Amino acid sequence: MDGVSDAVLASQAEYYRRRASEYDATAYGDLPTAQTRIARLVAEMRPGGKVLEIACGTGLWTAALAGVAETVTALDVAPETVAIARDRIAADNVRFEVADVFSWSTEARFDVVFFSAWLSHVPTDRFEQFWHLLRGLLVEGGRVLFVDEPVDVRAKETYLPGSDEIVERRLEDGTTHRIVKNFVDPQELEQRLRTLGWLCRIRRDGDDWIWGEARRA
Ligand SMILES: C[S@@+](CC[C@H](N)C(=O)[O-])C[C@H]1O[C@@H](n2cnc3c(N)ncnc32)[C@H](O)[C@@H]1O
Repeated sequence: MDGVSDAVLASQAEYYRRRASEYDATAYGDLPTAQTRIARLVAEMRPGGKVLEIACGTGLWTAALAGVAETVTALDVAPETVAIARDRIAADNVRFEVADVFSWSTEARFDVVFFSAWLSHVPTDRFEQFWHLLRGLLVEGGRVLFVDEPVDVRAKETYLPGSDEIVERRLEDGTTHRIVKNFVDPQELEQRLRTLGWLCRIRRDGDDWIWGEARRA
């Protein structure tokens, strides 16, 4: 792995650790509206059985997943966001882990691996590694489900000069952090995953979100 990617991944983790307490308000705005939308999308995606959620953040999706899955294993690199998620969710079918997905391993296999607002934070030079990891985490016939932002809303970010994937974000405490933001071009992602042996279908949800379902071809 190259050093740029490692440095940006560390900066990205630090950014989300510091952003934890402001995340729900700045990412979702009105929470009840967001929770209704999340519940509707989770019902549409039909996750079931043993679910792994990567980058669970403050647990807004975890809560909805817990209502339909047999078990949810939810992991995130930021202990601060996991603490908020733990407070939010009392369900006894949910287990949280603080871990960096790129160095995490398990013997467990899952019916569904889910992630929201995570794929766009995976650096281009980790993309194949990430999907290889997903392949090993699924049972035969298992599904990857993901939610993210489409390339249509890319103009809201300012990319560092010379980069088409690293942006700088400022927090309320005045600190600035470099993070990866690769918005999803549905056609391009479907094609790219096909070359890696996945069948992926991406749907739009409004102007600002897409959701995808991928299975091994
Ligand atoms: C945009 S937030 C998404 C949170 C949540 N899934 C949601 O949609 O509300 C991205 C999350 O990725 C987590 N994250 C960043 N780097 C990570 C890593 N290497 N391994 C696991 N989680 C990571 C952050 O801590 C943060 O909670």
